[in-house]
Amino acid sequence: KDISVLCVPFDLGAGRKGVRLGPHAILQAGLERRLRGLGLQVEVLQPFPVPQAGISEPAVRTEEALLHLDEVAGLNELLAQAVWGILGRGRFPLVLGGDHSIAIGTLAGIAPHLKNPGVIWFDAHSDLNTPETSPSGNIHGMSLAAALGLGHDRLVRIGGITPKIKPEHTVIIGARSLDPGEKERIRSLGIRCFTMHEIDRMGISRVMEEALHIAGAGTDGIHVSFDIDSMDPGEAPGTGTPVRGGLSYREAHCALEMLSESGLVRSAEVVEVNPVLDTDNKTARLAAELMGSLLGQRIL
Ligand code: ARG
Ligand code: MN
Ligand code: MN
Ligand code: MN
Repeated sequence: KDISVLCVPFDLGAGRKGVRLGPHAILQAGLERRLRGLGLQVEVLQPFPVPQAGISEPAVRTEEALLHLDEVAGLNELLAQAVWGILGRGRFPLVLGGDHSIAIGTLAGIAPHLKNPGVIWFDAHSDLNTPETSPSGNIHGMSLAAALGLGHDRLVRIGGITPKIKPEHTVIIGARSLDPGEKERIRSLGIRCFTMHEIDRMGISRVMEEALHIAGAGTDGIHVSFDIDSMDPGEAPGTGTPVRGGLSYREAHCALEMLSESGLVRSAEVVEVNPVLDTDNKTARLAAELMGSLLGQRIL
């Protein structure tokens, strides 16, 4: 497998800034060397021009209740093209965020190649808000909804294919902080959401077996969207919206190893690593390790 690492230093979809430093921190943690050590051919693509707000520019919540909509939409159009191009060259896109709003662009780039992609979304949240239900106006809380075809027209239309994914092949893992509108949407769309409660009851390996079936059976491959805040904050303190009671170090590695063993994963992204909030680059180092497990690293 040939890997293209794509850096997306963008944080205007999040409320707290600093996630734009995530890609650099994850590379600093030795991601490239780790992947080469697995026998993978790796290229690291330079970040394309990423829109940034002025340092003192206030985030204005418009009457549409979306913060930085122009910048988020513009960035995601560019990202969609970049991911599309990587897949077109027969390579595996590994996208380093950035906040989780970039999943819209990643999935928009995947959709023309995999007509029917499955998605496994690791997250403390579900990112299923729309402008009507969002408590914050932050677009990183709306990205899964947008990929499913719900929300602001500008977000839904990115990349020209809508919806990009289907609810019946979408799985959420690690949820423990859901807004009222999101809970309703999970039920009405019939999305399989493995909360921390279910992970505790079933164990991560049975959760992953079911997840692989939902996202992998009858699809053209799986995209893994890994929000680092799915992890317990003790393991991943460097993130903007931490929630207690998350995935353990071992559960996360086991889950990603099982995904790797399945041979079904076609693309991945790791998002919401915020070095400004981190200690000793711990969270970025964790992200690099986890992507190693996803891409074939084994204990023995
Ligand atoms: N549900 C909250 C919101 O919509 C938090 C979203 C956090 N999302 C994330 N990708 N970290 O504002
Ligand atoms: Mn998220
Ligand atoms: Mn999250
Ligand atoms: Mn199907």
